[in-house]
Amino acid sequence: MASTASATLLDQNVTKFVSRTHKILINGKWVAAASGKTFSTYNPATGEVLSQISEGDKEDINLAVKAARAAFETGPWSKITTSERGRMIWKLADLIEKHLEEFAQLESLDNGKPLSVARVADVPLAADLFRYMAGWATKIEGNTIPISSGGGKTQFLAYTVREPVGVVGQIIPWNFPLLMAAWKLGPALATGCTIVLKPAEQTPLTALLLGEMIQEAGIPDGVVNIVPGYGETAGAALAGHPDVDKVAFTGSTEVGKLILKAAAGNLKKVSLELGGKSPNIVLQDADVEAAIPGAASAIFFNHGQCCCAGSRLFVEHEIFDKVVEGVAKVAKNIHVAPGMDPSSDMGPLVSEEQLNRVCGYLESGISEGAKAVTGGSREGNKGYFVKPTVLVNTNDKMKVVREEIFGPVVTVIPFRNVEEIAAQANNSNYGLAAGIWTRDIKKAHRLASLLRAGTVWINCYNVFDAALPFGGYKESGWGREMGHEVLEQYTEVKAVCTPIS
Ligand code: NAI
Ligand code: MG
Repeated sequence: MASTASATLLDQNVTKFVSRTHKILINGKWVAAASGKTFSTYNPATGEVLSQISEGDKEDINLAVKAARAAFETGPWSKITTSERGRMIWKLADLIEKHLEEFAQLESLDNGKPLSVARVADVPLAADLFRYMAGWATKIEGNTIPISSGGGKTQFLAYTVREPVGVVGQIIPWNFPLLMAAWKLGPALATGCTIVLKPAEQTPLTALLLGEMIQEAGIPDGVVNIVPGYGETAGAALAGHPDVDKVAFTGSTEVGKLILKAAAGNLKKVSLELGGKSPNIVLQDADVEAAIPGAASAIFFNHGQCCCAGSRLFVEHEIFDKVVEGVAKVAKNIHVAPGMDPSSDMGPLVSEEQLNRVCGYLESGISEGAKAVTGGSREGNKGYFVKPTVLVNTNDKMKVVREEIFGPVVTVIPFRNVEEIAAQANNSNYGLAAGIWTRDIKKAHRLASLLRAGTVWINCYNVFDAALPFGGYKESGWGREMGHEVLEQYTEVKAVCTPIS
């Protein structure tokens, strides 16, 4: 954190926004928590309080679910045409773009990520997701199905209709606060569901600003309710609520399992996007000049706080030293500084809890014999910064190799046998993503077919698109987000059948 460059001047609207005590959005009204309680959100670059937020709990969740139910069953949303629905979602995308700078600054302040990254990634991707989903609103169709019942004596007309699943609870994490809200809200709105969204307690600000835009876009009252609060209280109440038809969750595998249990009460539908320990595999015939920065950004993007981070880097032994040296060099050149500092490449981790968690992993790895080629500890003593870290001399039993660290820490592991690398890469409870770097097209696709992962990137990493489904095998989750695949998670299929002869 050598730089002393002055922070970006805050947008006036952002200054006003953070100084307000924020409320809960229920049925189109901003209301205080039923308990009257508030909680603080912090600036992770300094550890100082940023804003006060009304603390939603069970009672607020109950009110929000009631509003969402009414909007679904009897409100204007239930009668609206799909074309109007699409137009509103499109308008929301326009509003996000119009307020891009405010969203980006709030994201940087609340989450810690560089403002420059929020401007080109988080905010535009969120707008794009809504636009993509706006297009789907008018294209959700059923089928006409020839059936043989009646043995030819009676003819039937049979068709399917895709209907919205109903009231959905959505619980999102803090690593991409606005983008995760978009991934969840976009398909729910496109399919005609109504929503209760609970943002992460660490980063509620952009979801609250989005709530204002949702109102401005003309989306009727009660369709989107936003209840900030803690996971164990508001989140658990939402996941267990008997009048919620579906819960969609992104976060830790541990909490994903709790969500599943909570959902069992009324057997609500569940989709889960959970942790990862994704393998990134560099074969000796790879374009090393591309693979080195690619492997570095696979782990260091968003400070390693990505569920799909390429945290296990497997390198064929002939080029192992070269790749380790190259990735370490990139790591050393990453400028770690507050996200609002224009020279920042990497900001702080989101919270003190995450700082302690990541440092705990570093200590455990190093005490078990792993060697930090670069990094290996906290950066400075103010804010929650961690040095970008490259670990070698690890083995499969170490926690740093087995568990999700969710910080800027990569373990680099050499391999000798391409035939065995898929099995080694698959040796994880997770199966979210994987990377392959090679010039050999046959090897690339063969390996892609062997990897048990929801996304395989070949000669690239962290490429996201609203049209591309994303989600996990194994303990990385249930279902897919984005693409047309996600629409299945938000619709029920009704088969209608009648004799016509
Ligand atoms: P978390 O899973 O506790 O939090 C994610 C969301 O779930 C937040 O909105 C939280 O309020 C809510 N939540 C927590 N407990 C809940 C409960 N019992 N019922 C309903 N909702 C609940 O994740 P946390 O504690 O912030 O981070 C811990 C680890 O989880 C990270 O180190 C990382 O490994 C992983 N994680 C993975 C993410 C992903 O994108 N897959 C995102 C965030 C964290
Ligand atoms: Mg937690």
